[in-house]
Amino acid sequence: MIKISPMKEEHIPRIHEIEKSCFSISWSKEAFENELKENSLAYYIVAESEDAVLGYAGMWIIVDEGHITNIAVHPDFQHQGVGTLLMQHLIDEAKRKHFFGLTLEVRESNIKAQNLYRKFGFVSEGLRKGYYQDTGENAIIMWKYFK
Ligand SMILES: CC(C)(COP(=O)(O)OP(=O)(O)OC[C@H]1O[C@@H](n2cnc3c(N)ncnc32)[C@H](O)[C@@H]1OP(=O)(O)O)[C@@H](O)C(=O)NCCC(=O)NCCS
Repeated sequence: MIKISPMKEEHIPRIHEIEKSCFSISWSKEAFENELKENSLAYYIVAESEDAVLGYAGMWIIVDEGHITNIAVHPDFQHQGVGTLLMQHLIDEAKRKHFFGLTLEVRESNIKAQNLYRKFGFVSEGLRKGYYQDTGENAIIMWKYFK
């Protein structure tokens, strides 16, 4: 049974492990701490089994828009529906708060994530050229609209 709950400071060491295993440019533990302690716009959740945190996701709530900052599932637990649960929770929260839409950026090469986003009705709305510093890759800007 997988449970979605608010991210807490005690989750951060495991979140950071997942972050490093998923991203070539990863957030530091301090970055997550700042999000939880200092950023009043931040909304972060974790997906937990009885034993461990399997994944996490978050967004910044900017007026009536949600800017998804990250979503990741530990490689050992990918493609088992955890990403879907996390995204469904963000969408439910967005609907509950009557958002205009949700937006995010994704690497052009990240087909797995794009598939997840398209499954939930996100569409491509533009490109940020050379957005990723490590490879110079473009970011696709995606939106899901509720209105
Ligand atoms: C993207 C990510 C969060 C998806 O999480 P997940 O738990 O694997 O996703 P789910 O099992 O719920 O699958 C949801 C959909 O994602 C897509 N997907 C997942 N794994 C995939 C794979 N190996 N190949 C292609 N599409 C895949 C599919 O559309 C899938 O829907 P389906 O099962 O109906 O085909 C996960 O792969 C991940 O953490 N990747 C590394 C971090 C990352 O890239 N984050 C996004 C940054 S923009």
